[in-house]
Amino acid sequence: MPEEPSRVALAFSGGLDTTVCVPLLEEEYGYDEVVGVTVDVGQPRKEFDEAEETAAALDVEHYVVDAREAFADLCLRSVKANATYQGYPLGTALARPVIAGAILDVALGEGCDAVAHGCTGKGNDQLRFEAVWRDSPLDVVAPVRELGLTRDWEQEYAAERGLPVEGGSEGRYSIDTNLWSRSIEGSELEDPATIPEDDIYDWTQTPGGKAAELVEVEFAEGEPVALDGEGVEPVELIETLNERAGAHGVGRTDMMEDRMLGLKVRENYEHPAATVLLTAHEALEQLVLTQEERQFKQQVDAQWAQKGYQGLVDAPLVDALEGFIDTTNERVTGTVTVKLEGGHCRPVARESEYAVYSESAASFDEEDVTGGITQEDATGVAKYHGFQSRLANRAIENARGTDGEE
Ligand code: ARG
Repeated sequence: MPEEPSRVALAFSGGLDTTVCVPLLEEEYGYDEVVGVTVDVGQPRKEFDEAEETAAALDVEHYVVDAREAFADLCLRSVKANATYQGYPLGTALARPVIAGAILDVALGEGCDAVAHGCTGKGNDQLRFEAVWRDSPLDVVAPVRELGLTRDWEQEYAAERGLPVEGGSEGRYSIDTNLWSRSIEGSELEDPATIPEDDIYDWTQTPGGKAAELVEVEFAEGEPVALDGEGVEPVELIETLNERAGAHGVGRTDMMEDRMLGLKVRENYEHPAATVLLTAHEALEQLVLTQEERQFKQQVDAQWAQKGYQGLVDAPLVDALEGFIDTTNERVTGTVTVKLEGGHCRPVARESEYAVYSESAASFDEEDVTGGITQEDATGVAKYHGFQSRLANRAIENARGTDGEE
């Protein structure tokens, strides 16, 4: 038996799930000390205040780790991969490995024996956290899942114990916010047939109340580096675009999502910056990549998004996919102007020194670009076009005797 007290590092938000985990880890699991860790991936300030206060009231040691830059970098990697899962830009999904890694660092530094999360056994986050943690020597504990807790039970337990769970964010909905997206789940929204009230949105205004606005995004090798000609670092870039595009109601998604364990759920998201950056990036790829690169990249991108959704961005496959993504993105350098208007963001101009588009090639008037190709040269191509289909159709007609003759 170890002499030292046993310690567990808990992914701590100050919400209902993680708050009830504290006494349970001590009483049901027998840990002597719980260390709460809140990782900053761009949540609103008030969430940290709440976590801080709740931790103090529970008398647990509490750490806040700033992982905003690491998270923003991962979000921008996802932009290079044009990554969305079923239409969702992966905010929660990409944040989890970053959060899990930061908690593991604290746990190891603080001599903890275990790491714990408050995820249920139904969602994706348990899988994303544990994929990171199970690579460590520490025990992994999941009280909500292992004890089969329900929200009702937790509420009752918290009331009985006088646990501090009054906080404003524990309202009707379950909300997960970070730099890249805000997700709103639960209550009447679970029913796919329910039209959401406008008050579920916090980052996006009701579209239509604002005159159109242009934003010029500059990319260097696939990464956004400046807005309207001014260089800006990733975290600030994302925050700025969330404000600017959110004011136009850009970046709302109301969708059915297939979770990893098979559950189909209704999800609502807000992600103004992600929408702007994904739209602008893809517009620049359209200008500089060849048709065959674009076509193949869609498959590469889809695989990247799948791993991103699974929380497995450290998989060797992702490394290999990024080999292709980074090589093609060496030419994704230039600017795109998007128009924000009435809930939409669409590209309206793009420029790059790597543009495959060439005015002189398109108009056939410069020999050094076309290599001497003339319009007449297309005649042979046109004669061949569809040749095999014509052969096949003739064979089908002959075999079936559909040419009218018996
Ligand atoms: N379904 C999304 C995902 O798995 C987001 C879930 C966010 N959680 C929440 N409590 N709103 O990535």
